[in-house]
Amino acid sequence: MPVYMDHSATTALSEHALREMLPYFREEYGNPSAIYSLGQTAKNVLEKSRQRIAKFIGALPTEVFFTSGGTESDNWAIRGVCQRRRDKGRHIISTAMEHNAVLRTLQQMEEDGFEVTYLLPDHLGRISPEQLEEAIRPDTVLISVMMANNVVGTVLNIKELAKVAKRHRVLFHTDAVQAVGHIPVNAHELGVDLLSLSAHKFNGPKGVGALYCRIPNPLPPLLTGGGQEKGMRSGTENIPGIVGMAAALEDAVSSLQDNTEYLKRLQDRMISGVLEIPGVRLTGDPENRLPGFCSFVVEGIPHSVYVVNEMNERGFCISSGSACSAASREASHVLLALGYEKHEAGASIRITLGTDNTEQDVEDALAALRASVQKARTESPSMAF
Ligand SMILES: Cc1ncc(COP(=O)(O)O)c(C=O)c1O
Repeated sequence: MPVYMDHSATTALSEHALREMLPYFREEYGNPSAIYSLGQTAKNVLEKSRQRIAKFIGALPTEVFFTSGGTESDNWAIRGVCQRRRDKGRHIISTAMEHNAVLRTLQQMEEDGFEVTYLLPDHLGRISPEQLEEAIRPDTVLISVMMANNVVGTVLNIKELAKVAKRHRVLFHTDAVQAVGHIPVNAHELGVDLLSLSAHKFNGPKGVGALYCRIPNPLPPLLTGGGQEKGMRSGTENIPGIVGMAAALEDAVSSLQDNTEYLKRLQDRMISGVLEIPGVRLTGDPENRLPGFCSFVVEGIPHSVYVVNEMNERGFCISSGSACSAASREASHVLLALGYEKHEAGASIRITLGTDNTEQDVEDALAALRASVQKARTESPSMAF
């Protein structure tokens, strides 16, 4: 088995989540809309899961809508607000370092007549409240800023940014897909109107997530049909997935402090070890970053895939910038937004540690990385270091 160090791409399903999910595949498989008891059992566990999830993200159960994951939640939040508010204004504010689930949706909104201001983060991936305030216009209807970045791990000050939005009565959405289960997230305390989360980032199953929606006149329905999710998102609910998400989130939240301490220790060792390799620099905010998140620019290589492949040969799963662009050779749009040169943005690696990693794994990965960087530098074409 390879040593998995790409936990911000996805995580393994926890034993607890699997155990809770299993009965809902073959024994308690009823449709929650059915009135006989098999259906009602499913309905009960659906609402119980909603209550559990709401509690863990500081929300009311009525504010939680289940989706197929982070991408769907982001799409729904943005499209929904634009559809509902287009008569009030056609200006959106976001950042140039969002996940493509947000960026590509915003591009579609632009094609549909909206104007988008993309705030440029500073070199560490931060957005200031002043910067946001300056961009707000009378016709701004939505602000969408991620809570934690998936390429450099910077954690943003969403509470302060949401305060600015509130002062100007603009709806605020945050993509908290990388944050939920890894740092404290309380929707009410943050003061956001919409928040996206995804189960597979915190040891839950893939293909299930949620959208927190505080606004009283909610979004238009995402999917129309049988009227599930209070008519907002039709389709028979993914009961095993939703149960698994609740179980995984319970574990993540209840062990958050212990996990954070452990991951910070591994992270410190990993970062200091990697920075001993000449020509390697840390990316993102050294202080406010996700626990276990290590990201670097490696000089002297044409592209990060050379290092990622070398690490793979040595039995380690790490990623190049971001999983969704791993197959392409494009430079990371996030690093470009942070002010890195194109060749640097193409040579970024991301090592994201999880609680299944040990101190020995980190030492072994460091040795493998030293060898991999050296090999990539000597064997890859051009780019002498
Ligand atoms: C910040 C961020 N937003 C959204 C997504 C998409 O989530 P999902 O894979 O659940 O669709 C990801 C996944 O990598 C992410 O990192």
